Amino acid sequence: MSLPPEAYLWFKTLHIIGVVVWFAGLFYLVRLFIYHVEANDLSVDLQKPFFDQYSLMEKRLANIITTPGMILTVSMAIGLLSMQPSWLYERWMQVKLLFVAFLLAYHFYCYKLMSTLQSNSCKWTGKQLRILNELPTLLLVIVVMLVVFKNNFPTNGATWLIIGLVVFMALSIQFYARFRRIKKEKSLVK
Ligand code: HEM
Repeated sequence: MSLPPEAYLWFKTLHIIGVVVWFAGLFYLVRLFIYHVEANDLSVDLQKPFFDQYSLMEKRLANIITTPGMILTVSMAIGLLSMQPSWLYERWMQVKLLFVAFLLAYHFYCYKLMSTLQSNSCKWTGKQLRILNELPTLLLVIVVMLVVFKNNFPTNGATWLIIGLVVFMALSIQFYARFRRIKKEKSLVK
């Protein structure tokens, strides 16, 4: 059975929706891990209810948003490739698949982290998790650039300027959050 040509556009629409859902889930999941780890700084009587609440939120987010987003992205990508198998011989697609493999490894690693958090045996600090949470941003930028520019991946000044701006924005958000945390800690000490 051959699909009508507009099926390709439907696959692409759902593929992009899947990407948005998947990334929203991945970003928020690791943010919850940060709050979960930092709940260790709370008083002993508060720790258990916070741990339980974060564990529940993480499980629901991972199973109801993040993984369905991943499944939608990958299944629609298979639909796209089945209608246009020649993409598989293109260099940009091969590089894209390599970065998608990293993203999938990150996704499953998040599940591993989630189970260590739930058994209270996580070795990661809040600071390390904040750095880890930047990894999908990098993968997102690379994959989107590959799919838009395809074999004409740009390496000119404008590219470095845009990448520089993205890095600058990510660092500014980190510094602002750090500044707020330090200010809050100081006000609690007073
Ligand atoms: C499972 C692996 C994936 C495969 C096999 C795949 C394959 C494809 C294909 C064949 C297209 C259509 C290209 C075109 O018609 O020009 C596409 C579009 C797209 N993909 Fe993926 N994709 C995968 C994962 C991802 C991921 C993880 C992201 C985001 C990080 C992503 C972002 C996009 C975007 C934004 C488009 C639309 C590009 C455009 O229309 O210009 N894809 N993908």
